[in-house]
Amino acid sequence: MLTGRHLIEPRDFSVAEMEELFVLAERIEAEGKSWKDACRGSVLATLFFEPSTRTRLSFEAAMLRLGGSCLGFAEPGSSSAAKGESLADTVRTVGCYADAIVMRNPKEGAALLASRFSGVPVVNAGDGGHHHPTQTLTDLLTIRRLRGSLENLTVGFCGDLKFGRTVHSLAKGLSRYNGNKFIFVSPKELGVPEYITRGVLAKEGVEYQETDRLEKVIGDLDILYMTRVQKERFFNEEDYVRLKDSYILDAEKLTRAKPDLAVLHPLPRVNEISMEVDADPRAAYFKQAKYGMYARMALLASILGVA
Ligand code: NCD
Repeated sequence: MLTGRHLIEPRDFSVAEMEELFVLAERIEAEGKSWKDACRGSVLATLFFEPSTRTRLSFEAAMLRLGGSCLGFAEPGSSSAAKGESLADTVRTVGCYADAIVMRNPKEGAALLASRFSGVPVVNAGDGGHHHPTQTLTDLLTIRRLRGSLENLTVGFCGDLKFGRTVHSLAKGLSRYNGNKFIFVSPKELGVPEYITRGVLAKEGVEYQETDRLEKVIGDLDILYMTRVQKERFFNEEDYVRLKDSYILDAEKLTRAKPDLAVLHPLPRVNEISMEVDADPRAAYFKQAKYGMYARMALLASILGVA
């Protein structure tokens, strides 16, 4: 039962609970309007202390499509955080008005802290460079839809694997399924943090390799997960400018890839996928954005206890 549960990191729900969410998301997608009153009378608060397009709007769309209502802020300057209010006090207060809280915050651990003070379920919509579990829900649902399974896949992660929270969460989420192998492609300075490689993958015997050459490995991949270089988490502009265009996926590079590769990207894209790739049937990132809404509808219906 997911009723009343927080979602802070990608393994908070068991594999069986995740499976229930995927099945529910597919049911909601197929049944469409028959879910339009499922959450009538419920209120979702979206507290975004960092910019967002897809995550916030897909959560709000999800709640509205379930018949519920939304309130919140997308600009922290407009909340009492600007006056120095603590996160603990903010969530205790918002929990008096809303039935669930979705929060994005630039500080690692912010969502966990919020969950300790909140009287209602807290969903982590990104805590700094740490985790983004509802993007993982989206990514897993997408892979499951496209490939029919979450097992025995060779998955390439490319770009800023150091600061990219979606990468940390997806690697942790996907490594629970049998037979998956990861290839991390990044400049040395932007490699996956050790708390994921040594702390999770090596410890659990999950096969992975690290390289800085996409061309060398692209032909081995079933899934290619491209990411943006996370400008806002760099300490200096110079490093960002030097690293920002390290990888650009284009039609030429894709000629070396498998015909059934799926190219995913959590979006927003900056330069790392050339526009010409959008027309390639292997480009799945806009589908992925759409599945994100169904994944969030399933999550909200479940934690609010109406599914
Ligand atoms: C990601 C994020 O915020 O971490 N975006 C998203 O939620 N879809 C990826 C990013 O910002 O690069």
